[in-house]
Amino acid sequence: MKPYHQTTAYTRQGMAGGFMDWANQPWPFKRYPDAPPQPLGEPRLPEASFWPSLLAWPPAPDAQAPPLDPAGLAGLLALAAGLTAQAHGGTYLRSPASAGALYPTELYLVASGLGWLADGLWHYAPEANAPRLLRPGNLAGAAAKVLGGRPRGLSFLLGALLWRSIWKYRTRAWRYCLLDGGHLLACLELALAACGLEQHPCLAPATSGGELLGLTPEREALVAGVGAGETVSEAGPEPPAWQPPEEEPLSPREQSDPTVAEAAALGLGERPGPEPDWPGEPAPVGAARLHPRPPEDGPALGRVMLARRSRRNFIPQGLNAAQVALLLAASLPMEGPLGATVLLGPGGDLPAGAHRYYPGDQALALVETGDRRAAAARACLDQMWVGQAALSLVLWADPARLDAAAGERGYARAMLAAGRAGQRLYLAATALGLGCCGVGAFYDAELAAAAALPSGAWPLYLVAAGPVKGGAPV
Ligand SMILES: Cc1cc2nc3c(=O)[nH]c(=O)nc-3n(C[C@H](O)[C@H](O)[C@H](O)COP(=O)(O)O)c2cc1C
Repeated sequence: MKPYHQTTAYTRQGMAGGFMDWANQPWPFKRYPDAPPQPLGEPRLPEASFWPSLLAWPPAPDAQAPPLDPAGLAGLLALAAGLTAQAHGGTYLRSPASAGALYPTELYLVASGLGWLADGLWHYAPEANAPRLLRPGNLAGAAAKVLGGRPRGLSFLLGALLWRSIWKYRTRAWRYCLLDGGHLLACLELALAACGLEQHPCLAPATSGGELLGLTPEREALVAGVGAGETVSEAGPEPPAWQPPEEEPLSPREQSDPTVAEAAALGLGERPGPEPDWPGEPAPVGAARLHPRPPEDGPALGRVMLARRSRRNFIPQGLNAAQVALLLAASLPMEGPLGATVLLGPGGDLPAGAHRYYPGDQALALVETGDRRAAAARACLDQMWVGQAALSLVLWADPARLDAAAGERGYARAMLAAGRAGQRLYLAATALGLGCCGVGAFYDAELAAAAALPSGAWPLYLVAAGPVKGGAPV
């Protein structure tokens, strides 16, 4: 497996202290002067309830949802990637969390045979909560070639505008683009299920997706997609060569990074990759079984998704076993490319220490006793609030396992899965009235040691959660 993750590891010695060129800051919204957004009207939020939606793997379509119409699509898009708040500095915040609030992920949809939306490739404009038509025509067959599965009425594709992230994170940007893509993917999957749509996610799309979307590969990388809705019988002809509508630059001087572009290309292949088998390890004897039992009168999914925010004002209070059980069951499926280690502080039902989580058995096995959170906080570039969080979920990968199951495409899969898990942990924490915040910035070797990860494991992402000042269930 190519060493992108190792070569972008932060070390205390290797932190050059890059500066931020504010005059060249990338604009967070794509601008197409000749392709204005087409309003869909007031969004209608789906009514699916939160805990059943979050605890079903894969997300199950809500049988009560009305057929999708313009208002339903507006609600779906708002939950998947819409604006939800404005920060003090004026930055618009969105449904998915995003490293540095830079929002590199762009959302595209290919519509076919809906009747109320023209067939073609659309780009989602979050600032208008509306799509803009980039390319008319029936492209359902072309989208299915990119994502696998049968041609569908609605296919979603996620692009990463690399410069938005490179501007701040330089060569490490690809890590953040994948984690951010996973966050948005989680929102999209939940929104699709809540709208009653069948879905077929693809975390290893085909290279031809770049051509379908008209992307310049070193500028914007296709990361993932989801085929959704009914299958369509008319797949459309092979699309001819195409020139996308003119787009304004993101900033005065957009820059690319060859290491990032090379890493991005490794997630693609000539054909879409089917989901590999990820046989899970059984929990060892003596592991503590968790029993996730959701509250009966939980909130609506849409309400929680719109209310989610990063909150770091943790208070010294532990979690009970029921809370830990729900947070972990909501975050991780029974099988997948990730390893998961949970750092718990004192004051809760479970002992302080580093625990390995076995999602297949929903069980925790203690690896190291004692509070490891201060060491984890130091490893997270001395972000000391991490040490106050009752729980930190450290997601990691065994590179040999990724390689064996998915070759070079295993890395992107694992990072997307980590972002997806992170967004779900945020949502479960929000529903329980807890705070949550992702951390992508860490000294890799220090975090691996602080979390007592298995030898050779790559730490991918840390997500901290726990009681916060002023926390209340949504
Ligand atoms: C991949 C990723 C990495 C992040 N890393 C950090 C971090 O190291 N420190 C931090 O304080 N927040 C971090 N965040 C949180 C973002 O700053 C936050 O999501 C963003 O400001 C938007 O705010 P919101 O989450 O309230 O919508 C991270 C978020 C993501 C998705």
